[in-house]
Amino acid sequence: MPAVGMGTALPIPVPHEVTKDAVLAAIELGFRHLDTAAMYGTEGPVGEAVADAVRRGLLRSREEVFVTSKLWCTTCHPELVLPSLRETLLKLQMEYVDLYLIHWPVCMKPGPITWPAKREDAVPFDFEGVWLAMEECHRLGLAKAIGVSNFTTRHLERVMSVATITPAVNQVELNPVWQQRTLRAYCAEKGIHVAAYSPLGGQNWNGSGEANAVLESEVLSEIAQARGKTVAQGYGIFIENDWANASLLGNLALVFCCITLFLHILLLFKMHQISLRWIHEQGVTWIVKSYNKGRLKQNIDIFGWELTEEDRLKISQIPQRKFVTAIALFSPEGEFTSVDLSEMDIVEE
Ligand code: A2P
Repeated sequence: MPAVGMGTALPIPVPHEVTKDAVLAAIELGFRHLDTAAMYGTEGPVGEAVADAVRRGLLRSREEVFVTSKLWCTTCHPELVLPSLRETLLKLQMEYVDLYLIHWPVCMKPGPITWPAKREDAVPFDFEGVWLAMEECHRLGLAKAIGVSNFTTRHLERVMSVATITPAVNQVELNPVWQQRTLRAYCAEKGIHVAAYSPLGGQNWNGSGEANAVLESEVLSEIAQARGKTVAQGYGIFIENDWANASLLGNLALVFCCITLFLHILLLFKMHQISLRWIHEQGVTWIVKSYNKGRLKQNIDIFGWELTEEDRLKISQIPQRKFVTAIALFSPEGEFTSVDLSEMDIVEE
């Protein structure tokens, strides 16, 4: 699985063409891992962008991209898994997905995808039946790999107890503010790869306008600033030396240094890159959402440098907080009549 991916879940729907153009831009920039889901309504434009990229020669073939899609809660019923994947493939205009995930350890009555869902529509999750149907999708060659999303160790235990194929991936909320230490240790032991969504703290799904805990983290900001300073000091030495024997060449070098220094501070060590780099160094694949070409470019630019031990230590001490919850899938009104919410919304630090 590629180490970095582009996400297409957005808090508000955008026109089809907007997603298609953003995905094409991402492919052009070098992204080879595209994340979609039945829930996002972006399978169509993702598929079109890939087909277009092949036509334009940006990709030699569809095989060059890794495409993930997800089974929505309303189809988490054994008999609906395969038809749901077939529908996904139809929208993607593809013969297979590289990875098919159970989107949530939450099951809702069959029906159209709605958000928020009615609390009364939550029904018990048949982990065994659904996972075995996922395995069938894999056997049929329609999903090269199968996995889960938003599963805690307790949900994984239930799948593992019936699985003949271990989930390849668990895609979860993960970033320096919610590091998922327990889950990562469990997944490492079981050979399940972890992928991170909300690597930059997410998109304010609940509309509360609350500050983004990752992009506004003081610790990450300090690390980013310190890195800027390190670069600045390096240039400082160079500038001092050139200043001493000021000549036309020296002055030109000085101007060059100042511009490069400015660009380094401005572009290189932004907080989001500290977060993405940290996730990458943990061996976790990240999936970041942005349809902005400049940001897509910045986000993929996290290679060729490393965090220091001190940076890692500081990040390990950031107070932990989870933002994404299963209850947010449901309307605040109504009652859960046949499921226990505490079975769905488990918090494991
Ligand atoms: P936008 O979509 O306006 O580019 P996450 O992937 O953690 O859910 O975070 C996605 C959020 O982070 C989006 O709101 C996105 O904004 C923003 N974002 C993505 N890349 C960057 C970046 N390079 N710099 C700042 N914000 C970014």
